[in-house]
Amino acid sequence: MKLGVNIDHIAVLREARKVADPNPLDALSIVKRAGADQITIHLREDRRHIQDIDALNIIYHSPLPVNLECALAPEILDIVCELQPHRVTLVPEKREEVTTEGGLDIFSNAEELTKTIRRLKQHEIEISLFIDPTLDNVEMSEKLGVEWIEFHTGKYANVYAMLYANLGNTHHTIKELELPRSELKEILEEEVSNLRTLSCHAMELGLQVAAGHGLNYQNVQEIADIETIEELNIGQSIIARSVFTGLEKAILDMKELLGQ
Ligand code: PXP
Repeated sequence: MKLGVNIDHIAVLREARKVADPNPLDALSIVKRAGADQITIHLREDRRHIQDIDALNIIYHSPLPVNLECALAPEILDIVCELQPHRVTLVPEKREEVTTEGGLDIFSNAEELTKTIRRLKQHEIEISLFIDPTLDNVEMSEKLGVEWIEFHTGKYANVYAMLYANLGNTHHTIKELELPRSELKEILEEEVSNLRTLSCHAMELGLQVAAGHGLNYQNVQEIADIETIEELNIGQSIIARSVFTGLEKAILDMKELLGQ
């Protein structure tokens, strides 16, 4: 199981004071030393964390492949085509959201996606679609001709938190979370089984499968056990732990849970 470390939250801390530190660029060698496989960053339209200069420096200096998440926004895609990261993960974006709350609607955006995918391919950039785990989404992704899909694991993570960590539903959008424990357990099992079935189907269709969002040291194991998911992209929980343990140890702890 490969691990992509999302380092946006280092820039969140910096942007809170609009100063120079901490600089996400300083994370690159540490992430590599800890044995992670990929650097993931999100260049948001509102530039709330990663700035254009960060993206440029990170892509230029990273010793690991860079997976750049971005919205289907022409201004951002122009920058992306110039920067030529190893991979682009197309994600939905809303200005008012705290974090990416769901997968990309690849059906209503199909026309725009077709044009964007063609353009990114011309720039020899690998493409991933961040999607909710549904059969329709998997089959449509294959039709759109991308190399990767990334399953949004937010629902799994939220249900897990309600059941085992009593952390509450941070997004307030999932009505299932008002259900009794027994039903939540069933939903969690269904969610894992769904991810397992769909990742297997996606692999048979020739897609490579990643997953991410809300994964942490408590809930990652069941997702890591799905052999057909090749890669996890994890940010918040690793950067949060790094405040206390240092980044290298936080990544090593996660890798241990992934069986490495
Ligand atoms: N993958 C994608 C496509 C994301 O948008 C995010 C959140 O930025 C992540 C993974 C990582 O999520 P988290 O920070 O909750 O680990």
